[in-house]
Amino acid sequence: MRAVASAPAKAILFGEHFVVYGKPAVATALERRVRATSTINGAGEVRVRSMLGYSRMDLGSIHDPNLYRDDPHRHIIFSAAGVMRLLERYTGVDILLESDFPYGMGLGASAATSVATIASVGSLLGRVSRDEVFRLSVEAERLVHRNPSGIDSAVCTYGGLVLFKDGRVERLDKRMYIDMHFMVVNSGIMKDTGAMVMRVKARGESSREEFASLAEMSEQLTMQALYAMGCGDRARLGELLTLNHGLLRRLGVSNGVLDGIVHALLKNGAYGAKLTGAGGGGCIISLIDRSRTPPPDALSRYETFTSGVEEQGVITEA
Ligand code: MEV
Repeated sequence: MRAVASAPAKAILFGEHFVVYGKPAVATALERRVRATSTINGAGEVRVRSMLGYSRMDLGSIHDPNLYRDDPHRHIIFSAAGVMRLLERYTGVDILLESDFPYGMGLGASAATSVATIASVGSLLGRVSRDEVFRLSVEAERLVHRNPSGIDSAVCTYGGLVLFKDGRVERLDKRMYIDMHFMVVNSGIMKDTGAMVMRVKARGESSREEFASLAEMSEQLTMQALYAMGCGDRARLGELLTLNHGLLRRLGVSNGVLDGIVHALLKNGAYGAKLTGAGGGGCIISLIDRSRTPPPDALSRYETFTSGVEEQGVITEA
């Protein structure tokens, strides 16, 4: 018995951080995926293998995440536990995770791996609906950082271009992104989402008024971006992305390396560019013209890839 499922990477275009406080955000699924393969084992354990290493936990312990809170696969073990609780079927499983995008770089690897795991273990042991995959993945994300908005799990589950607010997911019409093409640049600096979210929280508590006005601006940028997408105005959309980067700088989640990559992309023909996700490291997302990709030597120090909007969210393979 073997079941395979995959989920896409994601990039937040507008509204990261403020989405945790109920502001709207827009994010896209990317054409990179993580695959989870599950098989039943007779060892009475959940065992996980990925590029992060190897973990094992006996079935009696999987429902108490305190017992494995420092495990790099804690959200995966907890995802498998969530499926077993939902389906009331408890059995040892081996889970293999294979990704064609990097972990810890703001592309939603933790959400994508939990979404793919839930769908894979779900189809191994029974059936789990997409909405249940989303719900269980948000629960698992709480082990990665305490207060996830749910946007990463939403995009990795449903795919496409998503407007997200207060836990509500709206997939945007395909006509809004027919000609949207991105270049993703990996800064090579690992980011820590939990630490960045805590830092932003502390900032919000110490400078309430400034935080409220940045949150207001973030919402305005998101609304204007929706309008620009509706008009197919890529130049304006790019401008708004770059303005969003400036806002995130003001929030204190950028650094010299990320600013330098944004600058290089803009100098080399991108419509706009910004850090994506928690910041402090991770990736830069830029909107580009498919026929005018920035020359590779401009960014030769960094790993890059291009992508359109990925239509497919989680897929369970037969
Ligand atoms: C992380 O990809 C996005 C943040 O807004 C956190 C969250 O929404 O849970 C920084």
